[in-house]
Amino acid sequence: MAGSFAPIPDFLYGTAWKKDPTAALTEQALRTGFRGVDTANQLRHYHEAGVGEGIAAAFRTGVASRSELFLQTKFTYVQGQDHRLPYDAAASLSVQVAQSLASSLEHLGTDYVDSFLLHGPSMRQGWSFDDAEVWDAMRKERDAGRARLLGVSNVGLHHLQRMMEVQDEAPAFVQNRCFAVTGWDRDVRQFCRERGIIYQGFSLLTANLEVLQHPVVTDPAEKFGLTPPQVVFAFARQIGMLLLTGTTNGEHMKQDLASRGLTLSAKVVEGIERIAG
Ligand SMILES: NC(=O)c1ccc[n+]([C@@H]2O[C@H](COP(=O)([O-])OP(=O)(O)OC[C@H]3O[C@@H](n4cnc5c(N)ncnc54)[C@H](OP(=O)(O)O)[C@@H]3O)[C@@H](O)[C@H]2O)c1
Repeated sequence: MAGSFAPIPDFLYGTAWKKDPTAALTEQALRTGFRGVDTANQLRHYHEAGVGEGIAAAFRTGVASRSELFLQTKFTYVQGQDHRLPYDAAASLSVQVAQSLASSLEHLGTDYVDSFLLHGPSMRQGWSFDDAEVWDAMRKERDAGRARLLGVSNVGLHHLQRMMEVQDEAPAFVQNRCFAVTGWDRDVRQFCRERGIIYQGFSLLTANLEVLQHPVVTDPAEKFGLTPPQVVFAFARQIGMLLLTGTTNGEHMKQDLASRGLTLSAKVVEGIERIAG
């Protein structure tokens, strides 16, 4: 691992579902100013090698250097993959984790990632023996210097509570799809806040399409000459989230980053937080 590291950014560029244009979009996102990239070693939804190509292109043209970038990838269980596996499915889970991360490092052209997430627990509730084995294997990767920080994704409160009973180390990150109808994942966010865990919110727009048309969002957007997505991103940042955007549009990339300059009043933030649940 190199000597100096990127700070944890306040916005991650999400690379899911981008297929062939993944490399060009990743490079464009870095050129536009993103310094954090989210991916996964899961060909079903992500083209991680394409992310690596985009990053390499950005390095070549001097847009950023490795120590300025925050790269995040994930380990995905067999159940979440298609037939194109980044590990030997017959190997133990510990070996699968090591193989998956080794393959990610190759895809991304680096010898460490800044963050390594468990893509999702093995069961709908609780924290299974499999999850515990995977988490311990992830910790070994971290201790060996191949990942700086660890996290979990697609978790409910019950997963986190049980995880904390079994494991002696909390994740640095929780990454969840964030629905307004659950008070924007209120319970999980509170759990994270109380333990210093950084909450990463994804699908903030696509999971909340009706919110983008609600006056609580459209009124401040009109008043400040912004777009409703910018208001949602500004809101989510103000309530403490690390944001992800999955845009494929250059103008939207700029707008999403520009939302960092917007501060909504406490009244607007409260209104959006209570919009649907
Ligand atoms: N851990 C997991 O299981 C998991 C699951 C899903 C996603 N993720 C991560 O989260 C990332 C984001 O997810 P997502 O794509 O669902 O999020 P999203 O940002 O809510 O959705 C992207 C959509 O929002 C639109 N958009 C973005 N910025 C906009 C703007 N300023 N104005 C108007 N439209 C805008 C995009 O359209 P345009 O392309 O036209 O801009 C696109 O249709 C993924 O790429 C992935 O990295 C993680």
